[in-house]
Amino acid sequence: MESQSRVTTALTSQVGRKILTGVTGVLLVFFVIGHLLGNLQLLDPDPNLFNSYGKKLHDFGLLLYIVEVALALLILIHAVIGISIFAKKLKARKGGYKGVGVKEGGMGKQSLASRTMIITGVVLLIFLVVHILQFRFGPAADMMIDGEKALDLHGLVMSTFANIWWVLFYVGVMLLIGFHLRHGIWSMLQSLGMMKPRWSKGIHGAALVIGLLLAVGFLLLPVIIYLRQA
Ligand code: HEM
Repeated sequence: MESQSRVTTALTSQVGRKILTGVTGVLLVFFVIGHLLGNLQLLDPDPNLFNSYGKKLHDFGLLLYIVEVALALLILIHAVIGISIFAKKLKARKGGYKGVGVKEGGMGKQSLASRTMIITGVVLLIFLVVHILQFRFGPAADMMIDGEKALDLHGLVMSTFANIWWVLFYVGVMLLIGFHLRHGIWSMLQSLGMMKPRWSKGIHGAALVIGLLLAVGFLLLPVIIYLRQA
C-alpha cells in the first residue's frame, strides 16, 4: 500500500516527475553515446565493418526486439512526463500562484529553460519518428556477409547523406540535441539536489561538454559522408 502511494507521489509531484525524467534521460544518454560510437564505423571505407555490426545486432533476434520495446517505452515515458512538467508550469504561471517555477535565477530564466526543453524535445520526438522509419525500417538492400544474408545499412546511410537537404536536416536537429542535453543534464542534477553552490560551475561545465561532444560527433557524420561523395 505504502509503496503504491510512493509510486503515485512520484508520478504526481513536480519533483517526482523531474526525477523520473532525469532517470529516463540518463538511460537515453547512455543509448545515444553507444549509438554514436557504433555509427563512427560508418566512416571506415570498408562498408562491411558497419554492415557486420548491424548484422550482429539483428542476429540477437527476440532479445533485440525486447531492447527496442524497452527503448521505445523509455522515450515515451520521458516525453510524456516532460510534457506534463511543462504543462503544469504553464498552468501555474497563468494561474499566477507563487512558488512553482520560481527558483534561483528567477521566473524569466526558469521559463526560458523549460520553453527551450519543450521545443527541442518535441523536435527530437518528430526527428526520431522520421529517423527510425528512414533507417530501422528503411529500404536497405539485401547483401551477403560471409555467405549469410545481411542488410546494406551502410549503403542506405550513404545514399541518404548524398542529399544536402537530409544533411542540413540532421545538422539542425543535432544542434538542438546538444541544447536539450545541456539543459536536461543541468536540470536533472538540480532536481536530485546535486546543485551545491561549489559544484554548480563544474556541473554546468560537464553538461555543456557532454551536450557539445554528442552534438558535434553526430553532426560531423552526415557532413563528412556528404563531402566524401560530393
Ligand atoms: C548522424 C546521425 C545518425 C546516424 C547515421 C544514425 C544511424 C542509424 C541507423 C543506421 C539505424 C538503424 C540500425 C538498425 O537497423 O540496426 C538507427 C537506428 C536508431 N537511431 Fe540513429 N543515427 C543517427 C542519430 C541518432 C540520434 C541522434 C538518435 C537519438 C537521439 C538516434 C536514435 C536511433 C534509434 C532510437 C534507433 C532505433 C534503434 C533500434 O531499433 O535498434 N539516432 N540509427
